[in-house]
Amino acid sequence: MFFKKISINVESVSINGIKVVVFDDYDSLSRAVCDRVIDRINAKPDLVLSLPTGGTPFELYCLLIESYKQGLVSFSQVRFFQLDEYLGLSKDDPNSYYYYLNRYLFDHVDIRRENIFSFNGLTDDPDKESILYENQLTRMGPLDLVVLGIGTNGHVAFNEPGSYPFCRTRQIRLEESTIQANLRFFSNGSPMPHSALTMGLGNILEAKEVFLLANGSGKAEAIIKTLHGPNTESVPASFLQRHPNTTFFLDRESGLFVS
Ligand code: F6R
Repeated sequence: MFFKKISINVESVSINGIKVVVFDDYDSLSRAVCDRVIDRINAKPDLVLSLPTGGTPFELYCLLIESYKQGLVSFSQVRFFQLDEYLGLSKDDPNSYYYYLNRYLFDHVDIRRENIFSFNGLTDDPDKESILYENQLTRMGPLDLVVLGIGTNGHVAFNEPGSYPFCRTRQIRLEESTIQANLRFFSNGSPMPHSALTMGLGNILEAKEVFLLANGSGKAEAIIKTLHGPNTESVPASFLQRHPNTTFFLDRESGLFVS
């Protein structure tokens, strides 16, 4: 089947140092992010990359798989760092983020297992696990590209409110709003962990490039606080205003208040 790469060129505006692009809908947003991720990998095949889990990137992963199958991109040299993981879940637990990434992306592309740097959610020493992760990232990094979703409370990765730009990889207690939002993924009745390991805001701010994706009206308030509000630990994503190369990809609903 002939596959044509459709590039979506939409003008970006700059708000407090963040490039913002608002798309008509989720599909065009996902397509635009997919095109850019492919461009970055093709420009640097051993890209150091981090990607989110959750509902927002589903379509992005479908498109990346399709693009891989069409020969438009290869992940064979990509080095991947996991953004975050629940504490207490094994890698083969269907609710773990590692399992999610395999199911929705890695099992379908040519990424090498030895190039996936993941958290051990079953660790009994989260501080040690965080140091191991930091050491690997220091050896391979800095991150070339971090793709993020955003929580309704303004978290990025699992940097919950109260996180500062100096925060590194660490254990974090999840806010009640995050637990409630993510319960929808815990369909088999298994209890949801209340703490996690996360890459820190500091690690994210050191990345060469950051993409943040948001869709739906539920994210509109977090987006406006992030873009127009002060840099504050109560909205951790607001510290992205300090990053020199961040782009937000929004649909009309999440970008409702973006002027
Ligand atoms: C997940 C992650 C989180 C999500 C955020 C939005 O790896 O890092 O920050 O990106 O909670 O989740 P969704 O996309 O489900 O709304």
